[in-house]
Amino acid sequence: MLKDSFGRTFPYIRMSITDVCNFKCGYCLPNGYQVDKSDNRKFLHLDEIKRLAKCFSELGVNKIRITGGEPTVRKDFFEIIKILKVDAGIKKVVITTNGYHLNKKAKLLVETGLNGINISIDSLSRETFKNVTGHDRLPEILEGIKNLQELGFENIKINAVLLNGVNSSEKDFNAWSKFIQNNKIDFRYIELMQTGDNLEYFKKYHTSSKIFKNYLSENNWIYQTLGKDAGPSLNYINPEYKGKFGIIAPYSKDFCKTCNRLRITSRGDLRLCLFGNTGISVRHLLQKDDQLNELKDLILKQMQFKKESHYLELGDTGSTKNLSKTGG
Ligand code: 5AD
Ligand code: SF4
Repeated sequence: MLKDSFGRTFPYIRMSITDVCNFKCGYCLPNGYQVDKSDNRKFLHLDEIKRLAKCFSELGVNKIRITGGEPTVRKDFFEIIKILKVDAGIKKVVITTNGYHLNKKAKLLVETGLNGINISIDSLSRETFKNVTGHDRLPEILEGIKNLQELGFENIKINAVLLNGVNSSEKDFNAWSKFIQNNKIDFRYIELMQTGDNLEYFKKYHTSSKIFKNYLSENNWIYQTLGKDAGPSLNYINPEYKGKFGIIAPYSKDFCKTCNRLRITSRGDLRLCLFGNTGISVRHLLQKDDQLNELKDLILKQMQFKKESHYLELGDTGSTKNLSKTGG
């Protein structure tokens, strides 16, 4: 079992399979994806992904989230889901996606046996969505969500990055509230995080999630305490709503206490914290099946280096230039 020196266990891995993204979110890739000339390593290929997932599976990991960039841009994306589930025996395989072409992909996603989907939708206003992401694609995403639901797919979450003056008004909150009233979907605001690339944007748009918290308490939403493996999201329920609300507040004092995630970058680096500089490449041990035990040892040894917390509140973003590399 993966465990760090602060007693946190890691049954859950986030695996980025590509840095490429086809959106241009203002806080992440405002000029779109640019090839990183300083790093010409290829993204992990299928066999490497299979070996890595198998290793994690044997280390007690039962859930892998596939992220990006935008994971669905990879041609072998559906195959990766299958490999994680069937070959590596990972019980829960979930993805984070920007929803690009979701209406076209919904059926295949369900058929492949996906266990959950997190879709990023920063606003329910078509205009605002377009302004933030650079793409007028809200309708196809909403249609995709309907398609998933019609196919009986249940585990749907929506994330929005809270942006001051963009999607932070009562009108925005009410729109989401209406959306989840009869929709069994969890909607969560994430506080905007500073990264190496987005300082100006951050200064302009970062705001505390307090405004949303206040909205929730004024509208009868009840804070739900969760089990110890719940992760860093604060969740709220309301008996009159089918969906739930949540807040991810990385700047709050105890955020890292419930951290239950490790990351693998698209080029095979193990990252112990989204914002840490800690982490090493494990790729050299993904080349042959008989390296499995060595790989296990290396990962287990790395666990002792996981720090208690990030130092974001001090403006220290570690080596994170933007989240397209590590998938949020
Ligand atoms: N701060 C907060 N959230 C971010 N995301 C990307 N960059 C940032 C940032 N700087 C979010 C995306 C998506 C998830 C993968 O991470 O909007 O919901
Ligand atoms: Fe792409 Fe996600 Fe970054 Fe937006 S936040 S540009 S969808 S990787």
